[in-house]
Amino acid sequence: AWATKTQSVTTMANQEDEKIGSVKNQLAELFGASLRVTVPDEADVEPLVAACNNNFGDYQCNNAMSLWSKIKAKKPPFRGPPKLGEAIKDNLPASEMIESVSVAGAGFVNVVLSKNWMAKSIQKMLIEGIDTWAPKRPVKRAVVDFSSPNIAKEMHVGHLRSTIIGDTLARMLEFSNVEVLRRNHVGDWGTQFGMLIEFLFEKFPNFEDATETAIGDLQAFYKASKERFDSDPAFKERAQQAVVRLQGGEVRYRQAWAQICEISRNEFYKVYQRLGIHLEEKGESFYNPYIPGVIQALTEMGLVVESEGARVINVEGHNIPLIVVKSDGGFNYASTDLTALWYRLNEEKAEWIIYVTDVGQQQHFDMFFKAAKRAGWLPEDDSSYPKTSHVGFGLVLGEDGKRFRTRSSEVVRLVDLLDEAKTQSKEELMKRGKDKEWTEEEIESTAEAVGYGAVKYADLKNNRLTNYTFSFKQMLDDKGNTAVYLQYAHARICSIIRRSGKDIEELKKTGAVELGNDYERDLALHLLRFAEVVEEACTNLLPNVLCDYVFNLSEIFSKFYDKCKVVGTDEETSRLLLCEASGVVMRKCFDLLGITPVHRL
Ligand code: ARG
Repeated sequence: AWATKTQSVTTMANQEDEKIGSVKNQLAELFGASLRVTVPDEADVEPLVAACNNNFGDYQCNNAMSLWSKIKAKKPPFRGPPKLGEAIKDNLPASEMIESVSVAGAGFVNVVLSKNWMAKSIQKMLIEGIDTWAPKRPVKRAVVDFSSPNIAKEMHVGHLRSTIIGDTLARMLEFSNVEVLRRNHVGDWGTQFGMLIEFLFEKFPNFEDATETAIGDLQAFYKASKERFDSDPAFKERAQQAVVRLQGGEVRYRQAWAQICEISRNEFYKVYQRLGIHLEEKGESFYNPYIPGVIQALTEMGLVVESEGARVINVEGHNIPLIVVKSDGGFNYASTDLTALWYRLNEEKAEWIIYVTDVGQQQHFDMFFKAAKRAGWLPEDDSSYPKTSHVGFGLVLGEDGKRFRTRSSEVVRLVDLLDEAKTQSKEELMKRGKDKEWTEEEIESTAEAVGYGAVKYADLKNNRLTNYTFSFKQMLDDKGNTAVYLQYAHARICSIIRRSGKDIEELKKTGAVELGNDYERDLALHLLRFAEVVEEACTNLLPNVLCDYVFNLSEIFSKFYDKCKVVGTDEETSRLLLCEASGVVMRKCFDLLGITPVHRL
């Protein structure tokens, strides 16, 4: 039965008030209702709705073309995709969201949103808060495994990328009401500790007194112990013994290990503190006691086999197997990761486990994800949960196009790098004479917000898979797509509201948004797209999508402000509310990107 417009569909649309979620999702529900009526024999046709950038509408539904090729053999009462598009349009439930619907070209169904509804939605958000625009996620708990530097080795710019990208992803998930376990999977286990501990005993017979200052630079300590290890066979022998004694749990060795970890940890946390990033450490060592049991279980399933003295799992698509027990009987990176995955799925009940590392580790992740699928821990189908995702990223390059290093071609200390960003933005504030206007405290906090924000944004705005060039000059530029430019845009919005002398909280309650001209409407439409953009950035694990959005927001706001006088006009109240809504959305974007907003600049 090919139904035309029916009563039942209209009833569904009346529940609209309860529907939350992005504009796109709300429209998708309406189109879903239409499709169920238009092609009742096609089970679960997923409505394809997208924002459109043409003169025909704000959103479009693109189902007609592909659906037509599926149903044409069944001789439906409409001929061709445009007619199918007409039917989809006719069966669309009435909704206060929609101003008009039209069919164009090959069957695209275009929707123009109602100005009145748009204005009301923005007003509602202003009163009830931006959290009401949070997208929904089909998962309750996720793990984001990020930053994860290695003890006693340098925390390099790659770890900085992981830290910045991982934090943003965690923030987006948290905003979407997902409980996030922010895991710092530090490399705190492994054979290098034998060497470090033995060297510590040698240098400091009373090693308990070997404080951070005594050891000084842990990286130099690592280097020196490595030299000793490579040059003295007797030392090497002792170091190998030390690993066994450490892993056997001997107190003195455990203490020395803990001390070395502590010194490293203090270094890492200086970086996290500067960046305002929260992480919970569960290092590799944490999973160590669970490894034998997990390997045992995998062996009983018949997954683990012998290969050249080692024990391995074969996985499809790779010509080397995944080694889970080395030929000397020891465990490795993969055994730990498999075990950590088991723990996260079974003990922590996480449904989505996200790993943020450089693309160089892609093979490792692909292999142990496949091993987990073979074990039946994860469904074969990547679109169902629980699932794992590897968020890979490219290299950080210096302005010479090579791997980012200091002038003396050493690894850049991250703390120094962040200090430099702050120093340079502070210099700029001084140049602008802010020291005469502001308190010392305000200068400091603004320099930090601008400087650290610039470092984060420069990293996040690119598609993460590409390499990016680290340049203070570029990232601190106040023109172009930089955090500094965005901070200025935000500060300007704040200043418009301040200078109006109006109590914005009062206006929210008493005033109304009215979308008179196209500049106002364009701005409102962009604001309303916020939820679907966060949803997309989160689904595809691409923070740059949110960066593009906030950059466009400031451009669209500029156009609006250029053309629409705010203070002292008849439209003042409505326009101030639009300014406020822009500020609220922009601050939420900053928050999701881990950037502290500045209210004057
Ligand atoms: N420590 C590793 C490195 O520095 C990153 C760890 C990433 N997380 C994981 N579960 N493997 O390369």
